[in-house]
Amino acid sequence: MDPIKNPFSPGAGSPPPELVGRDDVLEQTRILLGRVRSKRPEKSLLLTGLRGVGKTVLLNEMERIAQRDGYRTILVEAHEDKPLAALLAPHLRRLLFDLDRMAGASDKVRRGLAVLKSFIGAVKVTVGEAEFGLDIEPERGTADSGDLEVDLPNLLSALAEAAEERQNPVAILIDEIQYFKQAELSALIMAMHKMQQRQLPLVLMGAGLPILPGLAGESKSYAERLFSFPDIGPLSRPDSAKALQDPVKAVGVEFEKAALQEIFRLTIGYPYFLQEWGYQTWNHADRSPITLQDVQNATAKVIPRLDANFFRVRFDRLTPSEKNYLRAMAELGPGAHRSGDIASVLGVKVTSLGPVRAKLIKKGMIYSPTHGDMAFTVPLFDEFMRRAIPEFQVR
Ligand SMILES: Nc1ncnc2c1ncn2[C@@H]1O[C@H](COP(=O)(O)OP(=O)(O)O)[C@@H](O)[C@H]1O
Ligand SMILES: [Mg+2]
Repeated sequence: MDPIKNPFSPGAGSPPPELVGRDDVLEQTRILLGRVRSKRPEKSLLLTGLRGVGKTVLLNEMERIAQRDGYRTILVEAHEDKPLAALLAPHLRRLLFDLDRMAGASDKVRRGLAVLKSFIGAVKVTVGEAEFGLDIEPERGTADSGDLEVDLPNLLSALAEAAEERQNPVAILIDEIQYFKQAELSALIMAMHKMQQRQLPLVLMGAGLPILPGLAGESKSYAERLFSFPDIGPLSRPDSAKALQDPVKAVGVEFEKAALQEIFRLTIGYPYFLQEWGYQTWNHADRSPITLQDVQNATAKVIPRLDANFFRVRFDRLTPSEKNYLRAMAELGPGAHRSGDIASVLGVKVTSLGPVRAKLIKKGMIYSPTHGDMAFTVPLFDEFMRRAIPEFQVR
């Protein structure tokens, strides 16, 4: 059928034709925003889930809801090697300048800028003196100790006080939050603690891999009171059917039931894979209804495409010993596996695997759902590893 009319949208962060099965989180978002705006305490939201479940898409939707609700927003994506301070500073600067431009002078906004300037000096982030505003004197002694756990809460407080004076709540949204260092996460948690204690109108919403609740562990007693971690998972069978059927029905086409069942069997409801199978199946089909045969024909193309793109980009970043570890994990099948079992497959002592495991966690390839267990962060990665390295010797 006409590829131009194809409604599906496989791709990182590509908005799906219909955001299915996420009503609960969206409702939680509305409640959070409404409560913070009216100075009532509410837990910040940190979405957690595997790659390709739709966290980024959901975070973008949460930003739209916040904006419709009158919030000013900052949306950033964390990276492996970018410090939190460098990531946030330019956005905080823009936000404060926006608040500064609103009608009427505001002491709190000027102070926010002064505190930001002192923060930037202390963490040695370059934002550009000229851009920043030469007339702003840094507020010495606030947010410039060099200890992020002290400085970030002070900086965000100054910002939130400015926002409060302008009667303009602020939402900070951070994607891939698992890339932050322990101290950075902890600083964010402390900052949110301060917001809540002082009932300031600043909301944090984030998304990341499931290593997140574990990472925040050091400051855990805080974290559990301040954050909720909605688990973003695969779609149920009826939701998966809806995610496929509704968009094609909107253009006068239909999937037959057996076709929907086959796609669910292959994708186990993972949103990225649903989009990919929907997309390819549409292009392969000649007419409505789209049949089981159409799905089977498309599958022969989808798997190599996934291997060449979605999976391969991750695979190519691995060293030989990392590949070997993952291949051993794949040998044990889908789901989580004991570190000891992985070591047995490789025929080595479990203690010798510590470094390679740490590197794989840092690269976001695996995570530990419970102590001593390891699982892939990418759904169906075990099947991919077995295809990528077909001959593998179990020791
Ligand atoms: N609720 C949903 N229903 C259907 N498709 C979805 C849904 N959420 C996300 N998708 C699709 O899944 C893919 C991955 O989404 P993305 O937000 O990039 O995932 P993540 O950030 O978790 O890796 C995209 O192609 C997107 O269109
Ligand atoms: Mg994402």
